[in-house]
Amino acid sequence: MLSEALVFYSKADVAEAWLSALGRELPDLAMHTAIDGPPPCPPEDVQYAVVWKAPHGFFRPFVNLKLVVNLGAGVDALVARDDLPDVPITRLSDPEMSKMMAGFVLMCVLRHARDIVPFERAQREGRWRYIHPTTPDKVRVGVLGLGELGATAAHEIARFGYPVHGWSRSPKSLPGIDCRHGLETLPQFLSESDILVVMLPLTGETRHLLNAERLALLPKGAKFVNVARGPIVDEPALIAALQSGHISEASLDVFEHEPLSPDSPLWAMDNVLITPHLASIALPKSAAAQIAENIRRIRSGEPVLNRVDPGRGY
Ligand code: NAP
Ligand code: GLV
Repeated sequence: MLSEALVFYSKADVAEAWLSALGRELPDLAMHTAIDGPPPCPPEDVQYAVVWKAPHGFFRPFVNLKLVVNLGAGVDALVARDDLPDVPITRLSDPEMSKMMAGFVLMCVLRHARDIVPFERAQREGRWRYIHPTTPDKVRVGVLGLGELGATAAHEIARFGYPVHGWSRSPKSLPGIDCRHGLETLPQFLSESDILVVMLPLTGETRHLLNAERLALLPKGAKFVNVARGPIVDEPALIAALQSGHISEASLDVFEHEPLSPDSPLWAMDNVLITPHLASIALPKSAAAQIAENIRRIRSGEPVLNRVDPGRGY
C-alpha cells in the first residue's frame, strides 16, 4: 500500500512553522520539505504539495499528486507554468491575511491622504510646514479589485470616512462601497480616484492594464498604491507620471521585476515608498487549518474549498 506524504516548498516562508502547524492538524501525515533537494520519501508517496514558486519540473516525480496548495493568495506564477499537474489547485483564503493586507493598505491611504509625505520631506529639511488637512469625505479612493483582500481593504478605508469606489470583473454589491464593474467603466473610475489602490490579480486581462493612457485619466496629482502585482502597471509609464507630477505620490509593494533593480529611478524618488512585497503574508497559524481541511476533503472524495480556475487565472 502507498504511504501518504505532503511536500513543502517555499523559500519565502518558514518551513518549520508551516510543517509544525500542519502537523498539529494532520498528525498522521508524513511531511517533508523539498527546499534543499528531493524529499526523503519515495516520490510516489507524495500526494499533496504546498508550494510557493517551486522550480520548474518540481511536480514531475510526484506521479500520485492529488492537490497543489498555492502558499498565498495570488496564483499568477503557478497558473502560468507549463508543467502544472492536472490536479485541483487551491489558494489561501484567510481572513487574517486579508486583515493584514487591509491594515497595510489603510496605512498607505492615510499616509497619502494626511500629507505625511510632504511632512516627512519638511522634517528632513528641518522645516515647520503647515498643510491644512483635507477631510476624509473630500478624498475619493478607488480600489481596483474587490476580491477577498480588495473588499476587506475597501471596507476598512470606508470605515475611516473616505468615499470608496471599487471595481471588479463581475457585478458586486458591498455595503458602503460604490461598486462598478467591467472595462467600459474604468475610464470614469480612474478619473474619480484621488487615491488609486491596485488589488487585482495578475492575469492576461490585467497585465499592463494601467498603461500610460489610463494613468493619464487619474486626476492631476493623484496618489497611487500598488499592493497586488507589479506587471499590472506599465512601470516606465508610472515612473514618467511620477516624474511629471501627474501622479504626485506612490506606495509600491510590488514591481515588474522583483527585487527592484538598483538602477530603477524609483529608488531616488522621495515621493515614492518602496516596500519589498510584504503587504500581507501567508500565516501558518491561521491558514494551516484550511489546508488540512482540503486534504481531508481529498481523502474523502469531497470537492476542495478555494479552488483556483487556472483558465480564469485567479
Ligand atoms: P481575488 O479574491 O482573486 O479577487 C480578485 C478581484 O479582482 C475580484 O474582485 C475580481 O473580480 C477582480 N478582477 C479580476 N480580473 C479582473 C478584470 N479583468 N477586470 C476587473 N476586475 C477583475 O484576489 P484577492 O485575494 O483579493 O487578492 C488580490 C491580489 O493581491 C492577489 O491576486 C495577489 O496578486 C495580491 N497579493 C499581494 C500580496 C502582497 O503582499 N503584496 C499579498 C497577497 C496577495 P470578480 O469579483 O468579478 O471575480
Ligand atoms: C502574495 O503576494 C500572495 O499572493 O499571497
